[in-house]
Amino acid sequence: MSTIFEIVHKDAAGRIGRLTTPHGIVETPTVMPVINPNIQLIKSHEMRGFGAEVLITNSYIIYRRDELRECALKNGLHSLLGFDGPIMTDSGSFQLSIYGEVEVTNEQIIKFQQKIGSDIGVPLDIPTPPDVSRSRVESELATTMERLTEARKIVTDGMLLAGPVQGSTYKDLREKCARTLSELDFDVYPLGAVVPLMESYRYADLVDVIVSSKKGLHPTSPVHLFGAGHPMMFALAVAIGCDLFDSAAYALYAKDARYITSNGTYHLEDLHYLPCSCPVCSSHTAEEIKNADNREELLARHNLYVTFEEMRLVKQSIKDGNLLELVELRCRAHPRLLEGLKQAYSYSAWLEKYDRTSKSTFFYCGSESANRPEILRFSNRMDRFTITGSAIIRATETKDDSKYDNVLVFKPPFGAFPVELGEVYPFNAEVVSNPDNEAVERGLLNTIKLIELNPEAEFTFVIEERFKHPLIGLLAEIANVVEFER
Ligand code: GUN
Ligand code: ZN
Repeated sequence: MSTIFEIVHKDAAGRIGRLTTPHGIVETPTVMPVINPNIQLIKSHEMRGFGAEVLITNSYIIYRRDELRECALKNGLHSLLGFDGPIMTDSGSFQLSIYGEVEVTNEQIIKFQQKIGSDIGVPLDIPTPPDVSRSRVESELATTMERLTEARKIVTDGMLLAGPVQGSTYKDLREKCARTLSELDFDVYPLGAVVPLMESYRYADLVDVIVSSKKGLHPTSPVHLFGAGHPMMFALAVAIGCDLFDSAAYALYAKDARYITSNGTYHLEDLHYLPCSCPVCSSHTAEEIKNADNREELLARHNLYVTFEEMRLVKQSIKDGNLLELVELRCRAHPRLLEGLKQAYSYSAWLEKYDRTSKSTFFYCGSESANRPEILRFSNRMDRFTITGSAIIRATETKDDSKYDNVLVFKPPFGAFPVELGEVYPFNAEVVSNPDNEAVERGLLNTIKLIELNPEAEFTFVIEERFKHPLIGLLAEIANVVEFER
């Protein structure tokens, strides 16, 4: 394993990391603004002012144009763009996926990226789109693997080398590809060909692609979500283990007169107020931006500001241990994002392996929260305490509490735990007093498990109106269920 990536904080499967490149250390998660060497709407040297630590550009565009190629070969990529920090270069694969061919070989473009002094190079992988036949995916994967193996042999020092994970929408092929790449030992692992999924809001499928790829990679490898630049999905993607993003969105959306926010996108025409306090929005009205000669540039600037603002919030949430609260909030911005959230929690057993064991608190934000990894962890670790003698399980203190050897609190979605742990994470969770069906069900299932794990003890469960659920019938077979009395 290479040691160029160091993880310094974690939350869920998200992390704050430090990636060492030839031009310096980058703190992740971060987004790399895409620089088009032909049209620099916002100059590279200004990018640091927005919060950019690393840029990404396309080496194939540079390679194809004589002036750019000669300049890059003579003075280097950093001089060409006017940026002295880390720069990642893509290979032309995206052009390949759009035009069906490129006028360069894998070997040529890899050596070119090395020669111009790229910090992170990308081989000429084949971005196989979603939903194509399995045989096509397998045959394109074979070519991708050949090229990546070749690239790994060419690049032996200096430039970091990215190994893009392909495999279309086949989860097993994504995982297998990731595992094979891991053995070849790349420095960064981009997840490829996900742009069509994001363009069509297929966030549940995107989550499948990310998690299956992650399963094949080493947990400490840096992962780049290729082509992801909309801030509304950063929290979700980071929480399931993505470290690097790249945004052409800031410029592409600006060209289309679209105004990005962390909750979605506005068409400039529909904006009467500016819901942002960035330097652009605090010095212009919506009308002024609409009528400005440099409208596109103003929009691009605003789009970049909000993109980095969201990434800072994601990082703060990792430090605070409330990234999943942010994910749940953001995923309410669009029903398709909500599907992505539900899909992410379908992988709670996987998330639980990486989630930190202690956080400041747990906020119940809606029925999806019942499936958070913390609930599963509690269920998995219930065998760590033994209960003997008589035990009362109740939500509200009763006058009979002192008559029992053990007092357990029933708190959905967790279930029952010793009253002494009430102030300890995660049982100090902030929950709703009238729990929804998902929370009650999860809590009752965990309670049934606890009772079954302690056959020597005799349990009394105090039921309240707000906890009525069909599972109470099952509980009544193993515990003495009594109605709560004031
Ligand atoms: N940009 C967006 N998607 C891809 C991809 O799958 N491969 C490469 N090399 N670049 C991309
Ligand atoms: Zn703004």
